[in-house]
Amino acid sequence: MKNRSLISINDYSKEEYLKILDIAEDFEKNPRQRILENHVVATLFFEPSTRTRLSFESAISQLGGKIIGFTDASSSSVSKGESLMDTIKTVANYSDLIVMRHPLDGSARWASEVSDVPIINAGDGANQHPTQCLLDLYSIRKTQGTLENIHIAFVGDLKYGRTVHSLVIALSQFNTTFHLVSPEELKLPSVVKKFIKDAGLQYHQYTEIEDIMDKVDILYMTRIQRERFADPMEYERVKNSYILKNEMLEHSKPSMRVLHPLPRVNEIEEAVDTNPKAYYFQQAKNGVYVREALMASILGLK
Ligand code: CP
Repeated sequence: MKNRSLISINDYSKEEYLKILDIAEDFEKNPRQRILENHVVATLFFEPSTRTRLSFESAISQLGGKIIGFTDASSSSVSKGESLMDTIKTVANYSDLIVMRHPLDGSARWASEVSDVPIINAGDGANQHPTQCLLDLYSIRKTQGTLENIHIAFVGDLKYGRTVHSLVIALSQFNTTFHLVSPEELKLPSVVKKFIKDAGLQYHQYTEIEDIMDKVDILYMTRIQRERFADPMEYERVKNSYILKNEMLEHSKPSMRVLHPLPRVNEIEEAVDTNPKAYYFQQAKNGVYVREALMASILGLK
């Protein structure tokens, strides 16, 4: 993984994911290893973020590295009309690694083609979110004891949900059975379903969340993302499609866990947060260990 960008989750092999998860386990036991003391990491967020940016920045700080970057493109020379290409070439002069989030699908790949330092894609439009995927894999393995033979339900916006796309692609290597719950308008794109089919695995599609509750090991809830809809009326039609309540979890397996990449709007009632099956805040915490492991691997320090 040394010096390799992470743009799409399928840039790395199954063995490489597992290596990162193993390193992350070590960081969970000892997160403050000062191995980045001589390194500068740039965090360029052209789109809002809480968890991804702050968990990266926490990880960099805990490892002793320096952070440069911006949280809003309006405070950079992009606001004067500078291109993404020129911005990336410039920031690569000042840093050892660039973490980048951008609203355009494919922007991170393009950045990696002009950058002299590795790029980590922290989310590009509706395309991919590979570091969220790694922390999701970590959370599944931690709660279920394995990544093999899991039944997982994805619920909500499967069309624009980049975290869903990355996780479906990764889990297609682990003999997973997929239960896809969405409104008709927000079904998983064919290009992502192809990874499931090519792996010889099964997926089942539903419109009602109740149909899958007793079948799954992981319930992966997602937000219906207002910012991805071109037509506000279409968003209004589907925005309240799924709202998870405690009583809906009563017939789920005792070992089942609820994941959500967050942020949540109203798709999980706050009363669910204290249910022992709710795991989404611990999931977000796991992001620090996984991002420490990823940066250490790319910089050749682990
Ligand atoms: N899961 C996730 O990407 O959250 P943020 O948008 O807050 O970074």
